[in-house]
Amino acid sequence: MTQEKSIQNIPTLVAIIMDGNGRWAKMRGKARPEGHIAGVESVRKVIKAAVAEGIKFLTLYTFSTENWGRPQEEVDAIMELFCRSVIAETPELKKEGVRIRIMGDRIAFSKKVNAYIDRIESDTAEGEALTVVLAMNYSSRYELTATTKDIARMVADGTIKVEEITSEFISQHLYSKDYPDPDLIIRSGGEYRLSNFLMWQAAYSELYFTPTLWPDFDKESLREALEAYAGRQRRFGLVK
Ligand code: FPP
Repeated sequence: MTQEKSIQNIPTLVAIIMDGNGRWAKMRGKARPEGHIAGVESVRKVIKAAVAEGIKFLTLYTFSTENWGRPQEEVDAIMELFCRSVIAETPELKKEGVRIRIMGDRIAFSKKVNAYIDRIESDTAEGEALTVVLAMNYSSRYELTATTKDIARMVADGTIKVEEITSEFISQHLYSKDYPDPDLIIRSGGEYRLSNFLMWQAAYSELYFTPTLWPDFDKESLREALEAYAGRQRRFGLVK
């Protein structure tokens, strides 16, 4: 096997909007949940590839707060797929040194889904190679609304003064507080938007869009995105 050349300037946190499962299924005359089943295969491949590339954090937009409005069978299929994946994937994730964390409001999940979340978070807690953050029942506006309420309460009960609210303070109270901001955000499926994903955290992220539908996204697709990122010049609002 030929040794692949390593890429310079690997991003610390890559976030992915995994879009295109439904269209992938439709093109094959299959029901939408079949697209999500194929999408899990891509998740598996991309996690493995992310470990190999030396990425430290991978945040995956798995289920948005808006996704509850999809047909009930599709919502149920995604939840079931999550639970099944927890059982099927945990041994390999542990072997690869992958830690799984869930980011989002867990209140809306069933007892069963919450139990699987607890299970995968505790079973993989020791993983040090890569942290995979599954954004579930997550959206930026929901997160920012929840954080605003938390901070307002702190001001109201005298825990903090208004002057203490800085941009860093807000970042430290978001659902994403334990992770760095994304260096690179990838969206598969050919659309050019953020769809309520990490809008605060994306302030200086590099964006990469590909027409590849998520079930067709693989390690080569990740490599192409990383190569594009390596060629970008990040200035963070400054001059070079
Ligand atoms: C977007 O495709 C995809 C989702 C809303 C769900 C993503 C879920 C998975 C990949 C499976 C579950 C994941 C884990 C980690 C167990 P879409 O349905 O919006 O596609 P479309 O735009 O073609 O309709």
